[in-house]
Amino acid sequence: MASVWQKEDRRILYPSLKKDLETEILVVGGGMAGVLCARKLQDAGKQVVLAEAERIGCGITARTTAVLTAQHDYLYQDMISRFGEETARAYLHGNLEAVKEFREMAKKIPCDFETVPSVQFTAEEPTRLKKEAQTVKQLGFPASFTEQLPLDIPARGAVVYPDMAQFHPLKFLVGAAEGLQIYEQSRVLDLDGTTAILEKGKIKAEKVIVATHFPFLDRRGLYFMKLYQNRSYVLALENVPRLDMTLAELEGQGLYFRSYGELLLMGGGDHRTGKQGGGLAYLRRLARQYFPGAKERYAWANQDCMSLDGLPYVGQYSPAWSGVYTATGFNAWGMTNSMVAAQLLRDLLLGKQNPLEQALRPDRTMLRKQLLINLGETAADFVIPTKKRCTHLGCALKWNPQEHSWDCPCHGSRFSESGKLLNDPAQKDADL
Ligand code: FES
Repeated sequence: MASVWQKEDRRILYPSLKKDLETEILVVGGGMAGVLCARKLQDAGKQVVLAEAERIGCGITARTTAVLTAQHDYLYQDMISRFGEETARAYLHGNLEAVKEFREMAKKIPCDFETVPSVQFTAEEPTRLKKEAQTVKQLGFPASFTEQLPLDIPARGAVVYPDMAQFHPLKFLVGAAEGLQIYEQSRVLDLDGTTAILEKGKIKAEKVIVATHFPFLDRRGLYFMKLYQNRSYVLALENVPRLDMTLAELEGQGLYFRSYGELLLMGGGDHRTGKQGGGLAYLRRLARQYFPGAKERYAWANQDCMSLDGLPYVGQYSPAWSGVYTATGFNAWGMTNSMVAAQLLRDLLLGKQNPLEQALRPDRTMLRKQLLINLGETAADFVIPTKKRCTHLGCALKWNPQEHSWDCPCHGSRFSESGKLLNDPAQKDADL
């Protein structure tokens, strides 16, 4: 299921690694986060090599709806109560800076960049949403509450963030990657300290950033306990109204929208990977209801890596592993958080302070309700008696009839009908 971005794919091919190398910094993973980390560090004067298992941008970056926003559900109210006002302000301003930085870079990269407001709405009683608008204002950003929505769908209130943005992620990635030393079809199999072992060579680095969506090494950091994955679905529709904003629904049907040219991208139907519910059938039913004259041009699915507390994990991979860093758990805001992560890791590796260092450190407390849910899910799926097992940690795979794949509810690995690996954290095909 190719996305609308993949029809205009102008990525160039990079060579694969066939010999040993030495570098100051190795970035593992060529999605938006990996490429931006490499870009920022190379621009700061560091020698950087990027190794990608397949092709750059071929994973989540090719399937995002590419919305750039600091508006992250009800996160600011939650953050103030959990972490305090200072952290919430640092997170907000980090994300606003990220949008600004994308805008700056897009001046030199043709990527259909558009400045638009970001709007989140609810069809339920909007008391909490009004409070979110107040909270964000108190943190220093002019969010506003409105009862008007441009689409004829149920809504009782919305919060508007002015001057957010949308773009074409693969066009942007091509420009951001220009001049970087990239190796494709070069899967890192393991790390020995800060030396990466690949099939046809080693890369000896002073520092390593693992930006592989889900950190692929399980022996440190407990990421298999603190991350899970969600699937989300997108339709690209024609014969629909043009939308001059990005829109996302809180609670209720969980829909989200943006325009791209003549097309309206309509997303939703989310569920934990490996579980039933939602999906394309659900989304198509709602598309017929709200846009009866619309014609479907594209349909695809994406996968989000969800953290325990709604904030990403960015920083040292584990306290006992010096020189190795990661960026993961971007929840549903992968583009903006990729830039936040790249700026934070650049600062950490250059020995500079960054206001988000403490809030996003991966070894922060795991004592969250979601931890119990993750552990319960893993325990339940581990004991199911079936031969179809995940090559990550051995949980039972579940058949996904909509996408014809074998999906793992534990941490979200996916395999094709014949067992080919589709989504990490598994690193090997499954014997199905
Ligand atoms: Fe971890 Fe399947 S993804 S066991």
